[in-house]
Amino acid sequence: MKFIIGNWKMNGTPSDKESMLTTLANTKTKNKIVLCLPFTLLNGNNNCGIAIGAQDVSNHENGAFTGDISAKMLTEMGTKYVIVGHSERRLYHNETNEIVREKATIAIKHGITPIICVGETLEEKNTGHTISVIKKMLLESIPESGEYIVAYEPRWAIGTGLTPSTNEIVTAVKAVFDTLPNPRPILYGGSVNANNAHDIILIPYVDGLLVGGASLKSDTFLPIIKSID
Ligand code: PGA
Repeated sequence: MKFIIGNWKMNGTPSDKESMLTTLANTKTKNKIVLCLPFTLLNGNNNCGIAIGAQDVSNHENGAFTGDISAKMLTEMGTKYVIVGHSERRLYHNETNEIVREKATIAIKHGITPIICVGETLEEKNTGHTISVIKKMLLESIPESGEYIVAYEPRWAIGTGLTPSTNEIVTAVKAVFDTLPNPRPILYGGSVNANNAHDIILIPYVDGLLVGGASLKSDTFLPIIKSID
């Protein structure tokens, strides 16, 4: 069983969600499909076996944090997963490894599986620092215990149409595997599409895919799901 996790980012309306769920309900797969939606679309259950995730969670339990959403609120909406430490959160909201670790810890406490993202910038890659960067990010971002997923997402591959070579992905995900205190599912993310999904999923240590742009529409998401079934 592999994970195929869609990250809708700041996209999607209730009717987009409805039509995606209708399509997915009619799609047979042995893999685990998760849709990480904007907060506004987290309401309502679905009976098509698709797990719903969020894209962020507060590192606080509750209180005076205008605009933030707590783990308890997510749990009560039926949210099963939450992305934490996505590079866009790290970049645009100054999230540090410490904050990411707090978010992962609070999610686990409330029964939600965090998907912890790590990945190097283009400059870090070009200066040969990929492995040291992801190891440090990982060690500082993972919680002490509990179930979680790690997503290796090179920043330069997100939304650019660029992907690392097979060798580069193996080296990075193996480094993630070797750094984790216990085995956890490891995803690859960054410009996954129907043309590369099949090859990427066959790479050792890759337990699934985190898909951004191509998860928004069923005519790009479905071929990915089918290509790795
Ligand atoms: P992308 O995004 O598939 O559009 O590159 C991946 C992500 O940001 O998780």
